[in-house]
Amino acid sequence: MSDLSLKPLIAAARGLTPSRQPVWFMRQAGRYLPEYRAVRSKVEFVELCRSPELAAEVTLQPLRRYDLDAAIIFSDILVPCTAMGQTLTFDKGEGPVLSHPVRSAADLSRLKRADAVRDLGYVGDAIAKTKAGLRSDQTMIGFAGAPFTVASYMIEGGGSKTFTEVKRLLFKEPAVFAGLLDLIAEVTCDYLAMQVKSGADALMLFDTWAGQLTGADYRSFVLPVTKRVIAYARTLGVPVTYFPGQGIDRMFELAGLEVDVISVDWRTRLASASKILREVGLEVTLQGNLDPQLLVAPEQVVRQRVRDILLEARQLGLKGHIFNVGHGLLPHTPPESLTWVIDELRAFR
Ligand code: CP3
Repeated sequence: MSDLSLKPLIAAARGLTPSRQPVWFMRQAGRYLPEYRAVRSKVEFVELCRSPELAAEVTLQPLRRYDLDAAIIFSDILVPCTAMGQTLTFDKGEGPVLSHPVRSAADLSRLKRADAVRDLGYVGDAIAKTKAGLRSDQTMIGFAGAPFTVASYMIEGGGSKTFTEVKRLLFKEPAVFAGLLDLIAEVTCDYLAMQVKSGADALMLFDTWAGQLTGADYRSFVLPVTKRVIAYARTLGVPVTYFPGQGIDRMFELAGLEVDVISVDWRTRLASASKILREVGLEVTLQGNLDPQLLVAPEQVVRQRVRDILLEARQLGLKGHIFNVGHGLLPHTPPESLTWVIDELRAFR
């Protein structure tokens, strides 16, 4: 079935034939762009997220340079944590730091049930402003972190390599862990609804760290609450993408997940992802999955890899395919490499 009147990304997400191959890049607004660094040199990251004018400006920057099919609102998955009572800072070279890490029932009880409109309305304002700068065929993507990935930062108080505190809470205080995921899920549902009301045409849920758990723990402690958020998001009338992060094994656990698109990490072949997902009963559109580090390669290598992915996606007879990187663009990405990617993709027959 085809629907050439739909935005290409929406058509692909819904399993219809898009008028052209949709493409966008995770972290397409960011430090690899000199125009982003110019804005960032004047304001802190969190302040940038809180300013609808500046957030809309940096969201649109990559769309001025490249022929993209989507804008993703410039924000961060940790922004809602600030509305729940934690303070978010980015220490130089250390990544995100959240105050008041949640390690006990008392810590959990001090968190606030954020009001999305009152406390996070600036993200909606940024979406509305960005949307005014988009063509009608371009998709406005809203997003949130999935409950487990957001919880992992809230528990650790920042990033982690070992997830020691996350697992300590999960195994020693499962009720507190579940309570935290439930609170995040409630806030996330309201937050996503507010984004759609403000103009988001599609939603994405980032579960970057889902692969840190065993399949059994993911299935018992994380999948049910994640399913709830995704099911709610789909009632908002927009297609929903889930990014389960690294760890192909996670695909086996997704049976029964009703979602439109699965975003595939670059360490997993599209062929493996689609085989496993079909095996567990998910016939979904796939998004991905160029290795973001490949973008430092010479032009001919970049072009070849783009063709390889497009050919693989076509041969698999996927329900749909949205071209993307398999994880966020990195600060050292040469901006011209994205021009080659898009040029090759538009020429592909
Ligand atoms: O994709 C986009 O362009 C939209 C904006 C976006 C950002 N972060 C902006 C950002 C999105 C969708 C995110 C999601 C996010 N944030 C995730 C999930 C996806 C993923 O990449 O795994 C996670 C785990 C985070 C948490 C986070 N935010 C980390 C670990 C960092 C530090 C990483 C780094 O590169 O320093 C951030 C900061 C961040 N979020 C930046 C940007 C552009 C860099 C901030 C700066 O300008 O200094």
